[in-house]
Formats: sequence, structure tokens, C-alpha cells
Amino acid sequence: MKKIIVIGSGPGGYVAAIRAAQMGAKVCLVEKDKLGGTCLNYGCIPTKSLISSCSLFNKVKKASEFGIEVEGIRVHMDKIMQRKQRIVSVLRNGVGNLIKRNKIELIKGIGRLKNEKEVIVETGNGEIEIKGDYIILATGSIPRSLKGIGFDGETILSSDHLLNLQDIPQSMVIIGGGVIGCEFAYILNSLGCKVYILEAMNRLLPVPGIDLGCSNVIQREMKKMKVGFQLNAFVNQVKRLEDGMLEVIYKTRTSDDNKSIKTNKVAVCVGREPVDLEYFPGLEVTGQGWVRVDEYLRTSVPNIYAIGDILGPSRPMLAHVASHEAVVAVSNIFGNKKKMDYSLVPGVVYTKPEIGCVGITEHMARDMGIEYGVSRVMFPSIGRSHTEGEISGEAKILFDKKDKKVLGIHIIGPHASELIATGCVLIRQGATMEDIGDTIFAHPTLSEIFHEMAMKGIGYPIHG
Ligand code: NAI
Repeated sequence: MKKIIVIGSGPGGYVAAIRAAQMGAKVCLVEKDKLGGTCLNYGCIPTKSLISSCSLFNKVKKASEFGIEVEGIRVHMDKIMQRKQRIVSVLRNGVGNLIKRNKIELIKGIGRLKNEKEVIVETGNGEIEIKGDYIILATGSIPRSLKGIGFDGETILSSDHLLNLQDIPQSMVIIGGGVIGCEFAYILNSLGCKVYILEAMNRLLPVPGIDLGCSNVIQREMKKMKVGFQLNAFVNQVKRLEDGMLEVIYKTRTSDDNKSIKTNKVAVCVGREPVDLEYFPGLEVTGQGWVRVDEYLRTSVPNIYAIGDILGPSRPMLAHVASHEAVVAVSNIFGNKKKMDYSLVPGVVYTKPEIGCVGITEHMARDMGIEYGVSRVMFPSIGRSHTEGEISGEAKILFDKKDKKVLGIHIIGPHASELIATGCVLIRQGATMEDIGDTIFAHPTLSEIFHEMAMKGIGYPIHG
């Protein structure tokens, strides 16, 4: 029987442990903190709980548009936070039960490599040594701070701190208009905070898989929500003022002069960095300090695999990618030769409106020299978006002009995070624009936007 040690219990590590146990291995899972990793404790799940509270609050504020009068709507921050904690606890217990049910040994403590087959775990009661035939590293990442702008947890905050705010500050400058920055801008703005984003690049959400069109809509919607932002803004300093406020100092591309903005608090959302790498000596790392693996997810030490955020941003740093890498790594440990394929990873961003993207963007298609066509449909042409009261947004399909196969789908609009699953399946199955046009989509649903895009793309728009 193979013995496998997994270090880290996030969506990479716990999935790897379960999959390995299902394949018949004896598995030991080492975790220094809470089960579930960043995703469950400090990331995807708690933020989405906050976003659900905010969306409901915003919807109730619009209730009169639906013919319903509501009086005395108020936010109870403590209750919003309690709900978030309850959800996290329920899901964390769920992971714990799965670990037990699959007969995985859970060891609480900090794991470090002794050699290629042994791990030392520093538990609360001293060190223990465990031995395995294979080791899977899944220790994730932590928020990155900017030089000279360290987190203090009180006024200069990371996304971890933002998740535990007990009071909403009057104003917040968010450094970094990436995925975390934009999601928190929506949360904080909904809860009454005056938000200003400073983003170094020339658009909000300058993420490779996110189409420029989605960034343009987000910028328009941020303006409507009165979230301020400055693009091309490099923050280099945060000064503490005598009145207790902070002054964020930045430069723009067009001028050498410093500019500044005063704020109560600052959130630094400029990406993430690897965690605990000093515990894994002897592994090759990339120039940026992330663990290097081959296409089978093997590190430079053949029986040690690595998955998840510890591999860095050369591939999408997403929970669902980590979970898929887990399955691929375990499959390879069991003798398969499965390459990790990153070509079809959906990206979702829980802004208002939501974003769901899969496949290539127009920018990528041009770089790849592909002759492509585009079909773009606005949400107001879909009946269900009116009944939902959410008409902002658009969806775009990119297709190969030669064979009409779908190459990319970019949706910004209501429930885009759910709609994009259809896009993943269409591209994976090699669907053409005609295939989608020949498919019957239920009416009235938001999914009809796929049909509309296909019909428009082949020259027969029904509602366009
Ligand atoms: P990010 O890489 O998405 O964005 C960081 C932003 O900070 C970039 O746009 C960058 O240009 C900007 N920046 C860097 N230095 C700056 C400076 N000195 N001044 C101004 N701007 C500066 O990183 P983020 O938002 O911290 O997210 C971390 C990871 O977590 C990402 O890989 C993201 O995909 C993942 N994540 C995914 C979510 C989802 O799938 N819905 C939700 C939250 C996070």
C-alpha cells in the first residue's frame, strides 16, 4: 500500500488526500491551521457570504421597484459576520467529516521536509516524524504586502483583515484593482464605505483571462456605484497623519509628481506570495520564488509533488485549479502520465455585475494569430434580465472564423458565475456556433444569451 503525506488542507490538499485515499493509499494530512485553507477560511467562501449579504441589502433597497415597500432596513455588521462564520464552520466540519470518512490521518502542526520521504511535524506537543512514499505539498499562499507598507491589522489591512472588520470605516483606499480589490470594493461600498481604488495598470481587473470589455463594464458600474478609481497609479508610500488619517502617496504614468489621497484605512490587495517555503529546502523554485513543477506536477524531487497556489501565478491561482491539480497529481502518483491542462479554466469574479470567463480573450486570439469572429449581446435583450431587475452587462463569444468553433466566452451580467459553466462545456465539447444555435434553451432564462450570441454570430439575430 502506498503511503502519501499531504501538507496543507486547502482545496488542493484536502482533495488530494481524499482522492489518494479513494485510490487505496494510506494518507496522512498535515495542517497547521484550520481545515479548508484560504478558500474556506479566508477567501472564496467568507467573501461570497459577505457578498450575498450585500447583494440582498442592495436588492431590498430597490424593493419598491418590485412593488414592495420595506421600511427600516439596517445593516448589522455583527450579524453579517456571524452568518459568514456559521457558513464557514458548517463547511469546515463537512471537510472534517470527509477526512474521517476516508480514513485519512489528520495531524495538526507545521510540516517540514526532513528528506525526500520524511516529514517532521511540529505539533503543540513537540515534534513527530512521519514517513511516506510520496509527498504532496499544498501549502498555498498569503497576502503580499508592498515594500514599506506592511500590514498592521488596524489601519493597513490585508484581505484576511478585511474579512473580520467589525465596523465599516468611513473611507478606504484599496491598493490594487485586481480580483480581490474589486470584490472588496463592492462589499465595502455596499456597506456605506467611501471606496477609492488605486490600480497600477491601465484597467481594473487587468487579469490575463478577463476580456477588456468586462473591465470596461466594471469601470462604468463602479462609477455608477460611486466607487472612485485611478488607473496607472503606482502607490509607493502610506503616511500616518497627526489626525489619525492615512495619506496614500502615488505616482501616475503621465507625471513625475507625487499625488495623494487621505483615507481612514488602506487595504493592500496586490497579489499573494508563497507560504512556508523555508520548510521545504532542496526544491527548485522559480525566479519569483514559487515551487517549480513539471507538466505532471512533479517538483525537482521525483516523489514530491506540488499543487495549488504554491505554484504561483504562472497558472491561475484559483481554488478549482488547485482541486483539479490534486486529482492530476494523485493520478500520476498511481502511475498515470496525466499532464495538467490549463487551457480551459473558468474565471469568475463576484463584482456587480458578476463576471464569468472561459477560453481565450480577443487580445490572446490576436497574439495567437487566429482569425476570429465575435458575437456580442447585451443583457437587456434577454427577457429574464428585466424580470430579475438586472439588465446591466453583456456577453461575448469568440469563434474561429474557419470552422465556427467556440474559442472563448466572456460574460458580465446577472449570475455570470453560474452561466459560465455552460460555456466551459461548450468549448470542451468543441461546439460550433451552429451547434449552439440548434440547441433549445429554456425561456425565460438568462441562459438564452448563449442562443442569442450564436444566432447573431451566424447572421440571424432574433432579438438583436
Ligand atoms: P491580482 O493579481 O488579481 O491583482 C493585484 C493588482 O494589484 C494588479 O491589478 C496590480 O496591477 C495591482 N498592483 C500591484 N502593485 C501595485 C501598486 N504598487 N500600486 C497600485 N496597484 C498595484 O491579485 P489579488 O486581487 O490580490 O488576488 C490574489 C489572487 O487571488 C489572484 O490570483 C486571484 O485570481 C485570486 N482570487 C480569486 C477570486 C475569484 O476567483 N473570484 C477572488 C479573490 C481572489
